[in-house]
Amino acid sequence: MNIAVAQSGGPTCAINASLVGVFKESLKEPEIDAIFGSVNGIEGMIENHLIDLKTMIFTNEDMELLRQTPSTVLGSCRYKLPDWHEDESVYKRILRTMQQRQIGAFFYIGGNDSMDTVQKLSAYFAEQEIDIKIIGIPKTIDNDLCVTDHTPGFGSAAKYVATTMQEIIRDSSVYSIPSVTIVEVMGRHAGWLTASSAVLHGLGEAAPHLIYVPEADFSLEKFMKDVRQEMAKHKAVIVAVSEGIEVPEGVQSGVVDNFGHKYLSGIGSYLERAVRAEIGCKVRSIELNVMQRCSSHLCSRTDIDESEAIGSAGVRCALRGETGKVMVFRRLNDMPYTVTIETADAKEVANREKALPREYINAAGNNITDQALGYFMPLIQGELVIQMNHGVPAHFTIQESLLK
Ligand code: F6P
Repeated sequence: MNIAVAQSGGPTCAINASLVGVFKESLKEPEIDAIFGSVNGIEGMIENHLIDLKTMIFTNEDMELLRQTPSTVLGSCRYKLPDWHEDESVYKRILRTMQQRQIGAFFYIGGNDSMDTVQKLSAYFAEQEIDIKIIGIPKTIDNDLCVTDHTPGFGSAAKYVATTMQEIIRDSSVYSIPSVTIVEVMGRHAGWLTASSAVLHGLGEAAPHLIYVPEADFSLEKFMKDVRQEMAKHKAVIVAVSEGIEVPEGVQSGVVDNFGHKYLSGIGSYLERAVRAEIGCKVRSIELNVMQRCSSHLCSRTDIDESEAIGSAGVRCALRGETGKVMVFRRLNDMPYTVTIETADAKEVANREKALPREYINAAGNNITDQALGYFMPLIQGELVIQMNHGVPAHFTIQESLLK
């Protein structure tokens, strides 16, 4: 049989490592012949836009390069499959591609929305009695997938956030005048990534002095009070704020994607304007923006290795005859850090969000407790030896014309 793999949702530093895991494991299996990459996630399966990965990835060096390349080498999408009872046409098109290409297993690397596709497609095939295995491989910097201990991509983003935050702390502390620096972190409705900046507390930093996550109530009035209190103690106050905290209408664009998610951005500059207007001190906001999910020169080795391993495990799962499953991590221990890879039903993961536990947030709702540090610390450990190209990291890319 042949297999196909696709990548979906927002990019991370580790999605290509999971692709390498699927690819390498499939190469080992005599019963797998062609390994197709579907361009732009499930859209490639609908449009029959597949590329033969064996004609692009040849050597171990190619795979190493792909492992250190951020984003999704096959492109991505935010495509919501309709309910097949209402519209079966798109399922028929996917099936046509799969039958024409003799695909016996399809691996979808994505977040909670992509697991909706895994669930719907596997349920449709089961009802039609079609034997094609559908397996989900998790990823997201938001770390908000249910069942799994953490998600591939999160550890690298958390390492970037902590490292950049530490550099910002150094930079912001040089002048004698009081200042406030507000750092906006991604993560949608979940505060995991913003909260991970608290690892610096475990390394002896007092900052970030304030950390705001969507799981705690937020009000501008309380924020101002918190900032004033911290300014009384510190010359340079550093604030980490999640893009997903509750703010008045109009601060964000209001534009939504196919899954109904709002495009979030702008909270940092909103709070900057508020501090300037009310306190009048030196204030700067910094939006970490896409850098926090694509800065693979600073990725976590643990994250990249685990992401490859969970991709490989996905192939073994399909070959065991399972379908409609999502691969998940189960943590056995923080120190020494130990995880196993298991499976969960896609319906347990699809369209659900895992919030930051309440015990990780302090009583005032403006910082993270030390209890969270044991969870975060192992995920950011280790570095890749990055191959460089004339002074900048080398990336693996696919010819643009093949992706159009
Ligand atoms: O996929 C997760 C994520 O990176 C969120 O943290 C962020 O809010 C969103 O994607 C951004 O979406 P897009 O890449 O479509 O701008």
